[in-house]
Amino acid sequence: MKGTILYCLEETIIEKYGSEKWDECVIACGYKTGHSFVRMIRDDIDETESLNVFLKSAETLKMELNELFDIFGEYWCCTYAPSLYGAFYVGIMSSKKGITKLDWVHDRVTKNIPNARPPRFDFNWITENKLELKYKSERALIDLFISLIKGLNKQFNDSCIIRKVSETDLIIEFLDEPGKTEVIYEC
Ligand code: HEM
Repeated sequence: MKGTILYCLEETIIEKYGSEKWDECVIACGYKTGHSFVRMIRDDIDETESLNVFLKSAETLKMELNELFDIFGEYWCCTYAPSLYGAFYVGIMSSKKGITKLDWVHDRVTKNIPNARPPRFDFNWITENKLELKYKSERALIDLFISLIKGLNKQFNDSCIIRKVSETDLIIEFLDEPGKTEVIYEC
């Protein structure tokens, strides 16, 4: 996985819990104290090692992995990506629009990065506000994907009902009233 994901996690934890906590996470992962991903944004970090950083950080912070995914998803969508990848937010005023541009965004942002294997998405509109979405990635991180959708809702003050129907499929219903996001696990 690209180092940008881990650097964002580092910023998220430092911003929310302070650099001493991040250092505890770093040590739990087996790195030396003071380790940072700041110079590794474009590097490929081994997949097992990347997931381990999330797992050990959640353990260190005494929270479930999905809770850390939520905190990360909000920071990525509301702070990190707008500042580092602002160009991709141009013309996107809602989660609905943002979600439908995900395939394009991941393709564009990773085009010139060797070895990038970004997630890809298939869309199928069932009605004007109901979307069937297939998440395609060998990493099997659909729960991280759900957290990032929640982050988009925070960024645009939107809401939706997210049904997780399998480890690769979601049904998303976009709602008119803000602040109502709900996740229903059907698998
Ligand atoms: C400007 C916004 C965004 C940019 C620039 C961006 C870029 C990236 C990059 C560079 C990666 C690592 C890919 C790799 O290692 O090959 C990644 C991973 C990922 N992105 Fe995004 N992303 C953005 C927004 C989003 C949003 C809003 C979502 C979901 C709603 C999302 C879903 C994911 C997921 C689930 C992964 C984990 C990798 C996987 O599942 O295979 N991204 N993104």
